[in-house]
Amino acid sequence: METDRLYADPALVQFYDIENGWAQDLDYCRNLADGCSSVLDLGCGTGLFAATLAQRAACAVVGVDPAAAMLDVAAERAGGERVEWHLGDARSIRLDRRFDLVVLTGHAFQVFLTDEDRAAALRTIADHLKPEGRFVFDSRNPVGRPWMNWTPANSLRHIEHPALGRVRAWNDASHDPVTGVVTYGTHYKPMANDLLYSSQSKIAFASQEKLSAQIAAAGLVVRQWVGDWLGSPYCSTSPEIIAIGALPRPVAAG
Ligand SMILES: C[S@@+](CC[C@H](N)C(=O)[O-])C[C@H]1O[C@@H](n2cnc3c(N)ncnc32)[C@H](O)[C@@H]1O
Repeated sequence: METDRLYADPALVQFYDIENGWAQDLDYCRNLADGCSSVLDLGCGTGLFAATLAQRAACAVVGVDPAAAMLDVAAERAGGERVEWHLGDARSIRLDRRFDLVVLTGHAFQVFLTDEDRAAALRTIADHLKPEGRFVFDSRNPVGRPWMNWTPANSLRHIEHPALGRVRAWNDASHDPVTGVVTYGTHYKPMANDLLYSSQSKIAFASQEKLSAQIAAAGLVVRQWVGDWLGSPYCSTSPEIIAIGALPRPVAAG
């Protein structure tokens, strides 16, 4: 997997939290974490979810991400001192402990571009769940072809950066119908200087059928398919494919 500058380069990471705040998805996952004493956040990024959760004294939170620049921001945020941060890859990391909840928030699961990558990440989830533990991750539904809207005109927005001032931001995207992978550009142009910060990223848009088969192949069971962060049941036209699941229940003896 190539390093994505959007997460690896501090010049781009400085825009992440301005664009990505607390939203319904994190509320939903925080509710799932109610009563949990341990939570593993794979692809934790700048750590907003993990650090917020860790501020509840009763919950031990571990965050994993391969991008040091993202973890640098995470460690500095309020509550970050209570999280155990690991620089690592969700496909291969083994912490030798199990958790009440394993989450991948903010569509982090879509960074796994191939069947092999997804299978490895799902094995990591399975290897870190307690018998009664749960996992949750989201993936945008390819049915609505959301990348068609990620044009410079449709995505143009202005953000306020504390040091750079007003910044013009936009995206562009192209879809490979063979692999289902979308390559998208993210661009930041401060109004006050001549600099342009740009990155090219790749994310996969797996179908619900594919995700369902891969989850089962990893020895996991989906208990609930959700279609948006209001909690609506998943249907074929839902914007999100949200899998909430667990290890299989042991078969009762006798
Ligand atoms: C869209 S961001 C989501 C970050 C965070 N979960 C959130 O909700 O804001 C995707 C994150 O996945 C991370 N990532 C990329 N490849 C990864 C891998 N192989 N294992 C774990 N995380 C990875 C990136 O570094 C980035 O922080």
